[in-house]
Amino acid sequence: MSTAIDDIALPPAVASHFSQDAARRLVELRRDLHRHPELSWQEKETANKLVAALASFGITDVARVAGTGLVARVPGRDRSAPIVALRGDIDALPITESTGLPFSSENAGIMHACGHDVHASWAVGAAHLLAASPASGDVLVVFQPAEEVGDGARAILESGTLANVAAIFGGHVDRRFEVGQVVAQAGALAASTDTFEIEVAGAGAHGARPHESADPIVAAAAIVTALQALVSRRLDPAQPGVVTVGTFNAGTASNIIPDRARLTGTIRATTVAARTLLTRELAALVTGVAAAYGVSATTTLGGGTPPIVNPERMASIAARAVTNVLGEAALVPLGTTNMGGEDFAVYMESMPGCFLRIGAREPGGRVIAAHSPGYYAAEGALFIGAAVLAEAARVASATLAGARETS
Ligand code: NI
Repeated sequence: MSTAIDDIALPPAVASHFSQDAARRLVELRRDLHRHPELSWQEKETANKLVAALASFGITDVARVAGTGLVARVPGRDRSAPIVALRGDIDALPITESTGLPFSSENAGIMHACGHDVHASWAVGAAHLLAASPASGDVLVVFQPAEEVGDGARAILESGTLANVAAIFGGHVDRRFEVGQVVAQAGALAASTDTFEIEVAGAGAHGARPHESADPIVAAAAIVTALQALVSRRLDPAQPGVVTVGTFNAGTASNIIPDRARLTGTIRATTVAARTLLTRELAALVTGVAAAYGVSATTTLGGGTPPIVNPERMASIAARAVTNVLGEAALVPLGTTNMGGEDFAVYMESMPGCFLRIGAREPGGRVIAAHSPGYYAAEGALFIGAAVLAEAARVASATLAGARETS
């Protein structure tokens, strides 16, 4: 891949949507963002570059919100028609890049390993397309910071800028699918992401005299084992769920029984009911096992993000947008259950919406795990994402306006 921007791989299906000049500027933006990634809540230069890129496309009604976030307003044809929002996230991860791309990260230890460089760029692209061919109502294009730490969406919501939004759409690049393939389906698209912390308090003693202790390590080990029965014995087998213990810390020396042990982990579920059941049963099980081992344990749940469950109506709007832009053959099923989280779910607690997976593997390319040092999204996904999201805003705005007239 060369750094010269004369080799733009515009996917044929959307080539007519972009002039060569617009395509070149979007690719330049993407490569610039990729080269200069910033961590959650530190996306200052990223935000400045996005403001400049939007301005270069004539979009200047841009509010700076939630610290490093932006909300750009693209006027619709009828200012009284329903407002639709599009969301692109903009933050990077603490990973050292090893892609070998000519526009690899120059910020040591930081990398766009989740494709948010492409999400930010396709959001600019969508704003450009909507400025050229507007939706019925205004479209708010949200550039959201801090998706990776799970609290950027909440901060955008708390800014109040989305108060009058009737529907929101967003997407994620996905190398399991080729450029041009898009998942726009109803149902679970991402899992909830609650965390837990378990403090086991016992009584320390000499390692040679365990009968004088209340051993928190043995109790914590029993808790880890017992937690495996939550998904296998408590949850309906038809429901996906995960309980993972990620850290287990206790002790200072081989001949000392400590007085404390600490576990942390994550709970994943794709329905609100499963999420509620797993978090409730986890705390009860920990208390019971601790009592059996003569120690006490406190469980602290960290409020994570909810699951994304795309509602039928919004998914059908998104699917229509995909069909309009790419044809029906572009629609592919997710084909698996995604237990990863995505804080787009937080918007969907306040407004209806749909989250898409947008193919980002070049033809003949291989699947590369997101959040790994070798990850990147194929550039063509930028244009697909821009065109599909812009069209989703148009279809949603028209559909919701029609529904309002007839109701
Ligand atoms: Ni991501």
